[in-house]
This record gives sequence, structure tokens and C-alpha cells, in this order.
Amino acid sequence: MSNYGRSRVKVPASTANLGPGFDTLGMALSLYAWIEMEEAPETIFHLYGDEMKGVPQDKSNLLYQVAQMVFAEAGVSVPELSISMYSEIPLARGLGSSASAIVGALAAANAMIGSPLDNAKLFNMATALEKHPDNVGASLFGGIITAVWDGVEADYIRLDSPENLEVLVVIPEFELATTKARGVLPAEVTVRDAVYNISRTSLLTAALASGRLDMIGKAMQDRLHQPYRAPLVPGMEKLLAEAPQHGALGIALSGAGPTLLAFVDGRESRKAELEAFLKETMQEHGIPARTCWLPACAEGVTAEVLPRTGMQSESFLDMIKGEVRS
Ligand code: HSE
Repeated sequence: MSNYGRSRVKVPASTANLGPGFDTLGMALSLYAWIEMEEAPETIFHLYGDEMKGVPQDKSNLLYQVAQMVFAEAGVSVPELSISMYSEIPLARGLGSSASAIVGALAAANAMIGSPLDNAKLFNMATALEKHPDNVGASLFGGIITAVWDGVEADYIRLDSPENLEVLVVIPEFELATTKARGVLPAEVTVRDAVYNISRTSLLTAALASGRLDMIGKAMQDRLHQPYRAPLVPGMEKLLAEAPQHGALGIALSGAGPTLLAFVDGRESRKAELEAFLKETMQEHGIPARTCWLPACAEGVTAEVLPRTGMQSESFLDMIKGEVRS
């Protein structure tokens, strides 16, 4: 065994697309996963919380696999790992749980071996794994990101979330696999629809960058993915059409869904009305759902290196108890 330390990582959830910015715009949200990683005599997992149920606890585990990619890239060998994880990010709901696991594992493995890989490298690796840069970019860098990927390199610009912009999500109690939600999209779109989205994505990015909350509703319109995905999320069509009448600046499917995300002006007086409308509309369509205000998260993944313990589960659990939302 070598002398590597124990790494501890905190990584935020994310929303993607923000309506028109399909595979391009992302935003980090204040819901988190925590990972600890250290070299061990044999590979062992400590996975805590409901969201970890069913996750493989052998070397096919995504965290383990991603860590090995980091070690290979850095030219080091650490075949046996002790990995702990707790996540409060619901799985397969459009809140970037897989992106946060990928980014968290990249950051944890990199920190453990002395951070030989820079963030640009980690972003390229994360995007190659996730296949689009929007969620991973937000989890890595925090704030709002606008990103492109050419298949090899990912580039981005990060924006701070504008003042007074609040985020309300309605999370339905069912899972929707991203592969399924991508499978219903057409292979080709018309120039008319492409222009519709390009113009609105540009307007939305400029509105977010300049704090023009008044433009958000007009800008958060989409023709590339939401119309095709609406049949997969009961109530979505009504929510998209009517949420602005109940106080939302704009509303969109969060990533590939099924969560929907509303932007709200912090000074809006109808917040409770909007929350009720989102929840009741889902319920009207037979879908139990919960709402949650999730402040934008300005900071991306953070990693620290701690002394080795050999058995980290106890301190990991103590750390989680001090940090989780509820
Ligand atoms: N941009 C992606 C999509 C996010 O909408 O399919 C989901 O991972």
C-alpha cells in the first residue's frame, strides 16, 4: 500500500437544459452527495441512504470504475479501495444523480493521489462518461454553466445565479431513465425549431448573465425535447402552460425529467400558491409528488484530504449527520 491520504468530497446536484438549452445549460442545486475514498487491503463499500439501494458493491460499481480511470490517466495503480457514499439526490428524477456520482468519484480519486489532474481534464473525462456536459459541468463548477462538447474536449463559461432568482422543483414519485427520455427524441429537427431554440437559449443565457428576470419566461421555451417528453410525465403539459399564471417566472423539465423546475422571483408573493399548484397538478394526474425550494449552489464539487483511518465509516456518518438537509 502507498501513502495516499483519505479523500472526502461534497458534490452538488444539478438541473440541466433550463428549457431550451438542451445538453448545454446546467445549474448546480443545493442538494448533495458525499464520498470518501481511500486505499484499502481489499475493495469495500459503505453505501448509506435510500438512494444507494441496489447500487453494486463490487468492482463494477461506477465510483470504483471512475476512480480507476483517474488512476490510469495519472499513471498510478491503486487497485483496492474503501469507498463510502451517502446521497440525498434522488435517482433518475432529472436532478443529476449520475453526474454527481461521476464528478464526485473523479474528484475523490484525484484528491486522494495528490490532485495530478486539473479541472479541465476532469471535465473532459466527466463529459465523456455522461455524454453531455450540462449536468457534470454544473456539479464540477457550481453556479450556472453554459457548455459545449466536441466529443473530446468540453468548454464552458460559468455564471453566478442572478440575485433574487429562486428555484422550486416538483419531484414526482417515479423514476424516469435518461435513456428512455432520450429515446423518444427525433433524430432530426427542422431549421425552424432549431432557430426557435437557439434564439431562446441565447436570450435565457443573456437574461441570466444580466439579471433580467423579466425575460426568463419568454426565454424558457423549448421545441427540441419537452414536447416529445411530455407524454412521459403526467401533468407536465399543464404545468408548463399554467405555472406562470401562479407566480413562476418560467418552468421547464429538469434535465430528462420527471422533475420540473420553476424559476421564481424571490420577491414574488404567490410562492405558496405556486407550490400548491405544482403538487396538486401532479396529483390530479395520479402522480404523488413533493415540492422543494433548492437554492442555486454557487460552489461546485469540493475535495479535502484527511489522515488515513483504515475504517472511515464512523467519522463519515458523523460528518453526514452534521450536514444533511433533514
Ligand atoms: N441534457 C440531458 C437531457 C440531461 O435532457 O437528456 C439529462 O441527463
